[in-house]
Amino acid sequence: MPALPNPSQNQLSIRWPLPPQPGLTPPLRLGVLASGSGSNFEALVNACRGGVLEGAAVVQLIVNNPGCGAQQRADRLGVPWQLVDHRQRSRLLLDQELVSCLQDSAVDLVVMAGWMRIVTPVLIAAYAGRLVNIHPSLLPSFRGMDAVGQALAAGVRLSGCTVHLVAEEVDAGEILMQAAVPVLEDDDHSSLSARIQDQEHRLLPAAVALLGQRLGSLAQG
Ligand code: GRF
Repeated sequence: MPALPNPSQNQLSIRWPLPPQPGLTPPLRLGVLASGSGSNFEALVNACRGGVLEGAAVVQLIVNNPGCGAQQRADRLGVPWQLVDHRQRSRLLLDQELVSCLQDSAVDLVVMAGWMRIVTPVLIAAYAGRLVNIHPSLLPSFRGMDAVGQALAAGVRLSGCTVHLVAEEVDAGEILMQAAVPVLEDDDHSSLSARIQDQEHRLLPAAVALLGQRLGSLAQG
């Protein structure tokens, strides 16, 4: 039997070619919700400014944690941001405020990029078919919190990330795109998270472009 390739000698992520993403018609206005470091938010902004998301723009970032990494990235990147603090509102009032901010900015499509709040039907209905989330597992495996820890505990040999439409059931809406990475023998939380995030930064812009094209085709009838 031929020797199996040693994954540690290769590029660890599985980098298959993503489908081509022709220009978006009409241009897409993106709103991003983020609670943490904001690396996916930055990947989206960069993709709009010269990658697979040309024809789209991140017009607004909303954060719920004052001073979080995403907010600092928005300052550096020159993207308008707004704080909507969940500590001062019920889940329902939080989502009503989100919808109002997003509508004020005429956002077409909303991206939950590390938004650590469970959303209500208020937000889901206002952006039905236009609200996406990125989750660090190959759904439907490992829904909910600490998907990377769940994957390590389960001993799976393959993990990855999923971009999906948001439905009322957590991490259960229609899957738009997925990317897979190997889980290595000596992986810990931080090494596996980093490998998955590397793929997230490619996958999220591509999946948003795909949905943008779908919405554009629907709009044109
Ligand atoms: C990502 O791993 C995403 O899958 C999860 O939250 C993380 C956000 O990372 N929902 P970042 O804030 O974009 O760096």
